[in-house]
This record gives sequence, C-alpha cells and structure tokens, in this order.
Amino acid sequence: MKIGIFDSGLGGLSVLNEALSKLSEHEFLYYADVKNVPYGQKSRDEILKFSFDAVKFLVKNGAKAVVVACNTATSVAIKELRANLSVPIIGMEPAVKKAHDLSHDDALKTLVIATPVTVNGAKLKELITNLNAKDKTELLAMPRLVNFAEKAEFESENVKSYLKDELAKFDLSKFDFLVLGCTHFNYFKDSLREILPPNVSIIDGNEGTIKRLISELKLQISNIKLTPNIKFFYSGDEVCEQNELEKISRNLARLEKMRAIS
Ligand code: DGL
Repeated sequence: MKIGIFDSGLGGLSVLNEALSKLSEHEFLYYADVKNVPYGQKSRDEILKFSFDAVKFLVKNGAKAVVVACNTATSVAIKELRANLSVPIIGMEPAVKKAHDLSHDDALKTLVIATPVTVNGAKLKELITNLNAKDKTELLAMPRLVNFAEKAEFESENVKSYLKDELAKFDLSKFDFLVLGCTHFNYFKDSLREILPPNVSIIDGNEGTIKRLISELKLQISNIKLTPNIKFFYSGDEVCEQNELEKISRNLARLEKMRAIS
C-alpha cells in the first residue's frame, strides 16, 4: 500500500523511520513543506491551507492513507481534513496520555515541549483537561528547535544553550516525563538526555502514531528489512538532487540513533 506522510519539514522523518521499522514492505510518499516551514508560528488559516495542499497532493499521487506527522498541523487541521477527504488520516498529538499512563507518582509532573501553535491550541488543552491532568502538566513552546533542525544544526553550542536556558525555567526534580510534542524535537534527544536529570524520561509520539496507522488500516507488522521504497517531495516537487537525498538519509540515520533514547 502507498502511505503518505506529511510534515512541515524534516521532523516527520522520525515518524517515517518508525514506520519503516515495522512496515518496510509498503511504499511511502514523504511530503516536507519546506517552502512554508516553520508552521509553529504561522496563522491557523495558513496552516489549514498548507495542510490541505499537502494531503491532497499525497492522495492525488496515490496515497491510500495519510499520516500527518506534525503535531502543529494536526492541532489545527485534523478535523477539517478528515471531514473533507475520503482516505484514512492519522493525526499526531503530544503523547501526554502515554506519560499520564506511565506515571507512578501523582506528585510528579509532565513537561510538554511543542510549537507555540500546539501549546496555545485548544486541542492540547482539551486533551489535558480530559485526562484530568491540568495540575500535573506544564507546557513550554520551543520554536527555535524547528529552525535548528531544518538547518541540520543538532549539537551546536547555540542548540545546547537554548535547551539549557529554556529547561532551567522549571524545577526538573519535580517532573517524571518530558513529552516531545513536535516531531522536529526528536533530533535533539541526545542533548536533552545530557541536560535532563535521570528522574525525567523522554517520551515521543512516534510509536503510538504508527501503532494507530497499523490498527486503523489492519496492516501486518513485518520484521523483514526490505530496501525502503520512498519518494520524497519538497512542497510538491519530487526531491531528485543527490545532495538533498543525502541530507535526508543522514537525518534518518540520526533519528534511528535517537530512537533508542528515552
Ligand atoms: N514538526 C511539526 C510538529 O510536529 C511542526 C514544526 C513547525 O513547522 O513549526 O509540530
């Protein structure tokens, strides 16, 4: 089956990487809206339009299901996408529920880091209210991480000092989970792990999203590692330049290393 994966940029490669580990016999179309990244500081109307353009493009190119591998686009557009398009559309939201289910100590909190649009959006607020987790959950917008990730700047001093300064706003001894509520943030798991105290575990939503894709489409998990069959698109143009394809495969290799970090 042809499966479309869409993100504002290269963060959703972390979702593609997770998909490839379980569904390598399927074909993938990956759409990175690099002309419009970052979404996290755009208006809701703009994000809605970009999301429709991307998902329609994927469907037109044969995708039988689409994963919106972007928490920001999901937050703004998932209802409208599902209401207007006929293929199954899997969204992505910060894994607050997973943190909530795993937490063994009611006195400890969860810190969710995401884009400003996700942090300020009604969808995340609803999720937290429905889990009755308002007192246990803190939110922090970290938009600069998206720009660093797009530039493939993962371990610079600027990245490290941004992470340290932002996380220093919280007393981390009072937390048990850090939820990565933006797919771009997966690139920084190693630096985050260095900064976070050992009592804080890192959680991302990639596994949960691909599990939902598998169950909604009733797909079979395969452990056979086939050569991936993927076409990449930058805002609707197929990526054919060797240097861009090499950048994507370097990013995928980095994300494979980050996958094991929690
Ligand atoms: N990767 C996206 C997310 O998961 C958004 C990044 C951006 O474009 O601001 O939220």
